[in-house]
Amino acid sequence: MADATQTKRALLQAADAARFAPSIHNTQPWRWVVRSERLELFAVTDRQLQVQDPEAHMLLISCGAALHHARVALEAEGWQYDIDRPAGTPLAVVHPTQQGHIDPAARRHFEQIQVRHTDRRTVSGDTVTQDVLDALVKVTEQAGARLHPLSRDQVIELAVLVEHAQKAEATDERVQAEAAAWAGGGRNEGTGIPDASLPQELPLTTVAQRDFGTAGTLAAGSGHDTAPATPCSTVPAMIQATGCGPVRRSAPSGWPPPSTAPACCR
Ligand SMILES: Cc1cc2nc3c(=O)[nH]c(=O)nc-3n(C[C@H](O)[C@H](O)[C@H](O)COP(=O)(O)O)c2cc1C
Repeated sequence: MADATQTKRALLQAADAARFAPSIHNTQPWRWVVRSERLELFAVTDRQLQVQDPEAHMLLISCGAALHHARVALEAEGWQYDIDRPAGTPLAVVHPTQQGHIDPAARRHFEQIQVRHTDRRTVSGDTVTQDVLDALVKVTEQAGARLHPLSRDQVIELAVLVEHAQKAEATDERVQAEAAAWAGGGRNEGTGIPDASLPQELPLTTVAQRDFGTAGTLAAGSGHDTAPATPCSTVPAMIQATGCGPVRRSAPSGWPPPSTAPACCR
C-alpha cells in the first residue's frame, strides 16, 4: 500500500499533466484540488464561453479531457484508481487505490499526450482507412463516449450547416467579441489560442474550419497542402460524450435544407 506522500505526489503530477489537455478555445476551464488521498476536479464557469457555449457542453467536454489526461498520468505510474462523479460539484473525484506494475503502453500513452496538439493546417488528401476508423471508434467507446464516422451524405449536410453557422457568427458582434477575447494576440496564464496556432488563411476543407475572426501566423507547410481543391475525400466524424445533457436537434428557423450543398460534393 502506498503511503500518503507517494499518493499526494502522484495526484499533483496527474493534475499537472492535465494542462496538456485540449479545451474549447484553450480556455482550460478546470481547477484541481489535491486532497491528501484524492483529487477533485471542478469546472471554472468564469471561463465558460457564454455566447458560443451557453449550455456549457464544450466546457464539460474540456473538463472531461483534463480528467482523461490525469488518468493517463496515474496509469503511467502504475496507479489503479476509482472515480466518483457526484451529481453536483466537484465534477469528478479520483481516488487512487494502489500502485503496481507499469504497463509500457501506459507510458507511451503519457508521452503522447505531451506532444499532441491541434493542427489547423489544411488536411492532406490521404484517406483514413477503415482499420484506423474502426480502431478510433473502439477506443472512443472504451472511454465511455461515442465516435460516429459520417457517411458521405452526412458530411455534406454537416458542411452546409457549418457554412451557415459561420455566416451567422460572422455577423454576430457578441460572438466576434468573445472569439477575439480568446483567439490571437496574447493573454495571461497561457490560455487562449496564440497566433502561432492559427492559420494565415482558412484552409480549404469540405467542412469549414472554425473561423476565429483573426489571421494567425501558421503556414500550411509541406505535406499539408495536398488536399484536392474540392476535397470530398475527407472523413469527418462526430464525437458524442455521454451524460452531457440534452442535444438540440432542430435547426434554427430560416436555415436552408442540406440540398444546397456545393455541386462538387453531390
Ligand atoms: C470541446 C472542444 C471543442 C473544440 N472546438 C474547436 C473548433 O471548433 N475549432 C478548432 O480549431 N479547435 C477546436 N478545439 C481545439 C482547441 O482550440 C484546442 O484544444 C486548444 O486551443 C488547445 O490547443 P491544443 O489542442 O493544441 O493543446 C476544440 C477543443 C475542444 C476540447
